[in-house]
Amino acid sequence: MSRIHHWLVLGAFLAGGIVVSCKHDPYVNPTNPEMTGFCNPDSVYFQNQILPILVSNCTESGCHNAQDREDGVVLDSYQSLVSTVENATQNDLHENKLIRAILDNDPDDRMPPAPKSPLTVNQVDLLKKWLEQGASNNACDENFGGCDPTDARYYTFVQPLVQAKCQGCHSGNNPQGGIKLSNYAEVKAVALNGKLYSSLVRSTNWMPLGGAKLDDCNLQRIQTWIQSGAPEN
Ligand code: HEC
Repeated sequence: MSRIHHWLVLGAFLAGGIVVSCKHDPYVNPTNPEMTGFCNPDSVYFQNQILPILVSNCTESGCHNAQDREDGVVLDSYQSLVSTVENATQNDLHENKLIRAILDNDPDDRMPPAPKSPLTVNQVDLLKKWLEQGASNNACDENFGGCDPTDARYYTFVQPLVQAKCQGCHSGNNPQGGIKLSNYAEVKAVALNGKLYSSLVRSTNWMPLGGAKLDDCNLQRIQTWIQSGAPEN
């Protein structure tokens, strides 16, 4: 073999190695670089599951956002939660002021207060599980292993996302911005008039308001769903 051949073979080998090693490198979410690990279904993640519940249900105008600071409480990040709520990471349903307010039987004292509906059993269970698991500021990458932008059905993707990240502000008697997203018909209307997608990608005050911007994969999946006519599938 000539010298040139040797170099070609070595070059091909190195190039192949780079391709293979890239495939096995953890996928780094470009929007949220901290979310690098795989989502273990047995774990509850603050950034992915708990913070969206707090942002959607507690930080609307007049409540626990950085401007209004109702009762001195701010619930728009892990840091503000632990610094403004007593014992917020303690796994003790009596000492922990966050869970106490959520489980209060008096609808005027309960958070979120009436006429807003209480958190669902599912949301409360997630919170309790997160406390049991140590209540850390943990995160995982929902697109670990790659993104499939065609995975974009209403009941398995859009509906759970809207429920977790939007409905706290966009349902009930006083939906924020006059936009209701509590059922398929309402989500479809906002999807097809263009406001759903534009509200997610605008450069300031994007939705979910006060929360992290949706990652590129989720944005692509929502776009796929809207472009296929926002079907109820
Ligand atoms: C913390 C409360 C809050 C959360 C959470 C929230 N929104 Fe909003 N949303 C608002 C407010 C307030 C407005 C009106 C002011 C504005 O447009 O910024 C609004 C407006 C909108 C609008 C209308 C925008 C327009 O162009 O007129 C859409 C669509 C919308 N939200 C969708 C969503 C979606 C989808 C989510 C979840 C991914 C979400 N929102 C989460 C508070 C919230």
